[in-house]
Amino acid sequence: MGKNTPGEKRNSLSRRELLTAGPLAAAGLAAGNFAGARESKLVPQAMKKQHEQLPRFKYDIESSVGWTGEGGSAKEANVEEFPISDSIAGVSMRLKPGGLRELHWHAVAAEWAYVIKGKVRTSVISPDGKAESSDFEAGDVWYFPRGHGHALQCLGPEEAHFILAFDNGHFSEFGTFSITDWVSLTPPRVAARNLGLPESLVTGLPKGELYIGKGKIPPVVPEAMRNGISDTNQLSHKFRLGELKPILFPGGQERIVSSVEFPIQTTVTGVLMDLKPGALREMHWHPNADEWQYYISGKARVGIFGAHGRELVDEFGPGNVAFIKQGFGHYIEQVGSEPTQVLIVLNAGIYQEISISSWLAANPPSIIADNFGWTKEQVARLPKSQLGIIG
Ligand SMILES: [Fe+2]
Ligand SMILES: [Fe+2]
Repeated sequence: MGKNTPGEKRNSLSRRELLTAGPLAAAGLAAGNFAGARESKLVPQAMKKQHEQLPRFKYDIESSVGWTGEGGSAKEANVEEFPISDSIAGVSMRLKPGGLRELHWHAVAAEWAYVIKGKVRTSVISPDGKAESSDFEAGDVWYFPRGHGHALQCLGPEEAHFILAFDNGHFSEFGTFSITDWVSLTPPRVAARNLGLPESLVTGLPKGELYIGKGKIPPVVPEAMRNGISDTNQLSHKFRLGELKPILFPGGQERIVSSVEFPIQTTVTGVLMDLKPGALREMHWHPNADEWQYYISGKARVGIFGAHGRELVDEFGPGNVAFIKQGFGHYIEQVGSEPTQVLIVLNAGIYQEISISSWLAANPPSIIADNFGWTKEQVARLPKSQLGIIG
């Protein structure tokens, strides 16, 4: 132990070198220093049983066919297309100017959205009868609790593109509770009586679901609700994530919206992460949530650690989705000369993270030295606090 190695000839290594070159190489350790590591290979026979390989954790949502109509289009990733993603389903939706995602609700999932491009007006009703209509643009987030009725319309002049995330991987956007589907399936006698309309009008409705229809661009100033009630919901459904002051790191920045910043958003946390070229989002895990990622721009390599000797690495680019199970270790290594922007959704309303650097810092040096078979001098080089995004 304690032999000088090439790494030790330098006074210190950068944090980036420490974490990108691999723990042993970066710490400048030579063979023969690994008493702890060698022992760790002596795994009891009973523990050597075969474990299933880690399932694929990448899905190219934008290359899927999805649904296209006159008013817009939608592509989805749920357990059908992307089996590992059993707790979060995602949809990439585009609405043409005036395009209307009709009045509907979701029986089994809350809806979270992030607007990438264009403008959208929403209306939503909660069980207490209070309603809210809001306008959204790039960088804005909405959250509609499970079962709350809502509708979306593109305000133009350009197409709107937004990412929807649902807190249930078994949710399908192509099977929602839509108002046209319900009315057209109800006996005309009942529907006409309920709606106060002639039965002939109800009978003449097209059968089935409109889903996304062609509409007219609504007026700039929002119209009053039909019931004239202006008592809006006290818990706003809108959060301006793009306007939130980011947490800055040497390698980039993060904007995090949890239920702390946006009280209605109780079941998910959203993160907008920007990585500079060459950055590394450090090794970490989330004790309380699965992680769903959508790559907006740029590229990255993601590595996940699933215990039992299992690790997977894959590369992601615009339109790709990643899913990382709760508690799995992972990192994001930026790739390419263009910055990378990632939208992240975690299925918990409170954000929790433990990073390898903060964990190692929160231990006595002798434990770390014994664990890895490192000298105290080598341990002293390890980071002493959370690094976040390494530059
Ligand atoms: Fe919806
Ligand atoms: Fe993460």
